[in-house]
Amino acid sequence: MTEATDRYDPLASAGAGPARPEPRIRLASPVTGEEEVEAMRDVLASGILTNGPATRRFEAAMAERHGTEFAVAVANGTVGLAAMYLAAGIGPGDEVIVPALTFIGTATAVSHVGATPVFADILPDTFTLDPADVARRITDRTRAVVPVHYAGQAADLAALRRLADDAGIALLEDAAQAHGATYRDRPVGSWGDSAMFSFTPTKNITTGEGAIITTNDEATAQRLRLLRNHGMSQQYHHEILGYNWRLTELQAAMGVVQLGRLDAILATKRANAVILGELLANLPGVVAPVAAEDRDHPYLIYTVLVDATRRDAVAAALDEARIEHRRYFPPIHHQPIYSHLPDPVLPVTEDVYDRAVSVPFHSRLSAADLADIAAAIAAGVG
Ligand SMILES: Cc1ncc(COP(=O)(O)O)c(C=O)c1O
Repeated sequence: MTEATDRYDPLASAGAGPARPEPRIRLASPVTGEEEVEAMRDVLASGILTNGPATRRFEAAMAERHGTEFAVAVANGTVGLAAMYLAAGIGPGDEVIVPALTFIGTATAVSHVGATPVFADILPDTFTLDPADVARRITDRTRAVVPVHYAGQAADLAALRRLADDAGIALLEDAAQAHGATYRDRPVGSWGDSAMFSFTPTKNITTGEGAIITTNDEATAQRLRLLRNHGMSQQYHHEILGYNWRLTELQAAMGVVQLGRLDAILATKRANAVILGELLANLPGVVAPVAAEDRDHPYLIYTVLVDATRRDAVAAALDEARIEHRRYFPPIHHQPIYSHLPDPVLPVTEDVYDRAVSVPFHSRLSAADLADIAAAIAAGVG
């Protein structure tokens, strides 16, 4: 059996806390099968292992699914964000507005390209960027706003699109968690100047590592292709400073199969969200995830808010039941790497983090698992 420490864990760090017993219900459980094995076997038989037809098929399928003209595959979401920022012309001296309640990569990729992340507050229901707070933080150095679709649920894209257009800045979606999500019946990934989707194993569909950037702008797509392949426009002709950010053909072939599974996974999760929402409905101080009416929520993450004074008790009850849990995400503005930045005032972010408990919500949960999760939360809020 795989050691817990070998599993992908975005929050794990060397020597992080005492060892816990192996969880009975895990946070993530990727759905893979014989179809992925076959697709990867075909790639091996073809002898083309990178930058080939499977990558093109994966890109075309993602572009079609998210309603964009172009899609460019890269090695992982963090370099995908850096590529997206570079392709938008962001660099030293620039500011990029991001939420703080997100995975660290949203901000570190800003730093990787030499720019400065500026943290804005979130809305209390969807935990996504508050357009009014974003507007307050725009300066003449701001080049882009980066909404993160928290748990995959779209940020307020209409308001942010308007705001970005009025300010003459880019709207770049961090859609890492949002495969297949929609806002006002239009797919995420098609609202921004470009958008990044990640395929790590905690996502609804996965290629182990990997990411795709969608865009409707041909010049952006071309720049992304140059960035991922050493800035090379022809064999050994290097036009810009590029990188090796390519996805392997094995991953791309897996991605095509995974994309075919997406609708079934989303349907299961939406049905389970109704069940778990009902189980939690009458618990004191407990707020289940809010699905905004004009959005399709893909429930990548299931974050429950509890009374802050009961949060530790809820965590202890989940531990006791051997149900894995996290707090998605420790706010980035408190991370040591950003201690040099002016401290932003983010009251909603702080409040959500103080009350947040994220519980397992992968598509393989049984009715009994959902009942056990609800029972542990109920025991914790007492
Ligand atoms: C919101 C968000 N942004 C960026 C990333 C970084 O993606 P990757 O892990 O593929 O580098 C992730 C998650 O993994 C994420 O959840």
